[in-house]
Amino acid sequence: MTLTRRTTLLGLTTGAGLLAAPAILRAQQLFAAYPFRLGIAAGDPASDGFVIWTRLAPEPLERHGGMPMAPISVDWQVASDDRFSTVVAKGSAFARPELAHSVHVEVGGLSPDRPYWYRFSVGRERSVAGRARTLPLASTAIDRLRFGVCGCQNYEDGLFTAYRHLADEDLAFVFHYGDYIYEGRSSPVPVGYDGRPRRFVRAHEGQLLFDLDDYRRRYAQYKMDADLQAAHAAHAWFPTFDDHEVENNWVGDIDQEDDPPEIFALRRAAAFQAYYEHMPFRRAAFPGPSGMPIHRRAKVGQLLDLHLLDTRQFRSDQPCDDGFKAYCAGWDDPKAQVMGASQEAWLTTALKEKRARWNALAQQVMVMPLDRRTGAEPAPIRNMDSWGGYNAPRERLLSRLKGLNNVVVLTGDEHQNFAGELRLDGGRGDAVAVEFVGTSISSGGDGADTRKGADRILANNPFLKFSNDRRGYMTCDVTPERWETNFRVVEHVSEPGAAIATAAAFTVEHGAPALHRA
Ligand SMILES: [Fe+2]
Repeated sequence: MTLTRRTTLLGLTTGAGLLAAPAILRAQQLFAAYPFRLGIAAGDPASDGFVIWTRLAPEPLERHGGMPMAPISVDWQVASDDRFSTVVAKGSAFARPELAHSVHVEVGGLSPDRPYWYRFSVGRERSVAGRARTLPLASTAIDRLRFGVCGCQNYEDGLFTAYRHLADEDLAFVFHYGDYIYEGRSSPVPVGYDGRPRRFVRAHEGQLLFDLDDYRRRYAQYKMDADLQAAHAAHAWFPTFDDHEVENNWVGDIDQEDDPPEIFALRRAAAFQAYYEHMPFRRAAFPGPSGMPIHRRAKVGQLLDLHLLDTRQFRSDQPCDDGFKAYCAGWDDPKAQVMGASQEAWLTTALKEKRARWNALAQQVMVMPLDRRTGAEPAPIRNMDSWGGYNAPRERLLSRLKGLNNVVVLTGDEHQNFAGELRLDGGRGDAVAVEFVGTSISSGGDGADTRKGADRILANNPFLKFSNDRRGYMTCDVTPERWETNFRVVEHVSEPGAAIATAAAFTVEHGAPALHRA
């Protein structure tokens, strides 16, 4: 077969590191369609560079993305201007079939605190250009920082309009708190993955995800979304996963069905590999037999230490058999873990250093021990899949934040906006930090300003200052003296074209962990 021979030839040529012109021509003939249909991305910015990412997939939903099973050399460029008149770094990297023909290039040697533009090419095909900012040097005093926070993007629940607006924001970077994909089967019925009614907007391709090919196809479907591509092209991201990259409410080696751990481990490994393949991660996050190391730290001048946490991989099983539950002894299990001992020590050591003016804990599930009662339930109810179900680890964390008076927790998962104060002793003691919970890009559908029962929740939880049920994202404006978080929301996600607005803004003064409505 001609195709096989070409593929072999190409593989041999590129494998030897000699990317001769004839091989490039052959590469071009191998693409049935434009190979950059999944867009480009940049991630994990540092003061000297960032990761740039793409994946060759001319037929994204086909097996292997329509690619021949051979390594293909892809050229990349980084320029100091958007017209690429001054290219400051360039090279080539292999898009390997083992990694779904994705490319992750760690670009270094750049200048701090400025924008760059990057693009890829293969044969005569060229990607769109993306933009990414390097961080300021950790030693530099900076007087202002603005970044974005987002996540939870169920494709079936709504359009990614919020991402189009996020792309237009002037941001240093974006923190993504996970649920980049949802693992559910195609379900053109008005019931969400959580069993609640919803307005069906668009359908997942395929069934429930289990193997590597399943997860790859799901990422390919999401990544073809033009609004999502725009948000990646505009800003470098710090991605982290939550549960739906693998399965609803998994923790450690435990899944919802209580499958044997070694069985779930296979699914989790497939999910982690596909996640790595589709995100602009550094090599340090490469998934292996023991998991995917994603907790890491970014130093943004002297102003901010961004501690990116992993609240899934090292957590102990949810108490009371998961769900929204009234008290059971598991809430108080002294051995329970959310971050795991090693990550917890890593965080504690950094906080003790008191390096930066502010500390942000960029993580996934709500720390506030929110009483979820909306009706006449006799006893408090908490979400077992949040820090609220883990009293010992939560109080341990909060006790370590005490006295710092510069900690802001950034959270996702809830598909609602919340702002509240983190108080010791189950929410009854002194405030030691504040928490901003971002809503979803689309998960949960259109939403409303107020969710049913919100008044009761606000009344039952004095530390909670705000709730809102619109879709959108958060922006954080940080100066040495003040932190301001804006809850940016769209009116609907079931139809295109929704405008963006600020539902509320809250400020925190440095040195005083209290929320003020701006
Ligand atoms: Fe979510």
